Amino acid sequence: MRYTVGEAVSFVARRAMQKAARTARPGDNQTLWNLGKADERRFWRAWIDQQGMEWSDDFQQRLDPGAPFDDWVEQQAIDASITGPVLGVLDVGAGPVTCLGYRSPNWEIHITATDALGSDYAGLWRDAGRMPPVVTRPVPAEDLSAVSYMGPFDVVHMRNALDHCVSPVAAIEQMTQQVADGGVILLRHEVNEAENESYKGLHQWNLEPRGDNLHVWNKNVDVNLTGWLDERGFDCQTEALDIGGAPWVRNVVTRR
Ligand SMILES: C[S@@+](CC[C@H](N)C(=O)[O-])C[C@H]1O[C@@H](n2cnc3c(N)ncnc32)[C@H](O)[C@@H]1O
Repeated sequence: MRYTVGEAVSFVARRAMQKAARTARPGDNQTLWNLGKADERRFWRAWIDQQGMEWSDDFQQRLDPGAPFDDWVEQQAIDASITGPVLGVLDVGAGPVTCLGYRSPNWEIHITATDALGSDYAGLWRDAGRMPPVVTRPVPAEDLSAVSYMGPFDVVHMRNALDHCVSPVAAIEQMTQQVADGGVILLRHEVNEAENESYKGLHQWNLEPRGDNLHVWNKNVDVNLTGWLDERGFDCQTEALDIGGAPWVRNVVTRR
C-alpha cells in the first residue's frame, strides 16, 4: 500500500502513540498527551469545516448567541441560591466553542471558556472565516491562574474533558481554587471513556461512579476524587445516569 507523506507521518505518530499507551508508566502522561493532541485538533477541524458533521444541531446551537443557557447548569445554580444579576461561569476544557448556551431568564450569563488547545482552535476558526460568540482562551485545566482575574466564578463547569487532561487531580484542584464561596463545580462525563476509546488520542483517563464516589483511573492509578475533595473541605454528589443509551456520571461539588 502507498501512503502520502501526511498519511505516513500520521501513521507513524499513531503507532508511536499506541506503543506508548501499551507501555505507559505514571510519569508518561505528558508524553501521551503531546502525542494525542493532533487527533483532537483533527476532530475539531472536521467539526468546524463540516459545520458539526452529524451533530449539526449542536454546531448551530453553540454558534447562536441567543441560544438558551444549559438546563442542568441553570438548575444547579438555582439550587445553590446564587443571586444575580450576573452569573459568572468558567467552562474548563470547553472545546473550540462552549456548549453551555448564552441566555437565561434568571441571570446575565458571563462565560469564560478555556481549553489547553485554545490557540489551535483560534486558528481553526480563522481558517473557517468565523468567530464563536465566546472565544475559548488557551489555558490548561492544570493551571487556571491565567483566568483567575476574571473570577472567582459562581459556576465552574467541565464536560467530557477531565478524561483528556494530563493530570485530572491537578485540574480538580485548580477548579476548587476558582469557584466562589457558595458557588458550584459541575462535572459531567461519559463513563470510562479511555476504556471505550482504547486509550487512543487524548482519552487517557476513565471517570467512573462507584456507589456515592467518583473515581478517576487508568491502568496505573486509581484515585477516589470524592475522598480527595472531602479531605479538602468539598462535598461531591455523584449521580449515575443514562444519556442516549450511554452511561454518564454527573457531579455537583460544593465547598462546606
Ligand atoms: C471531548 S472534548 C469536550 C469539549 C467540550 N467540553 C464539550 O463537551 O463539547 C475534550 C476537550 O478537552 C480539551 N483538553 C484536553 N486536555 C486538556 C487540558 N489539560 N486542559 C484543558 N482542556 C483540555 C481538549 O482540547 C478538548 O477540547
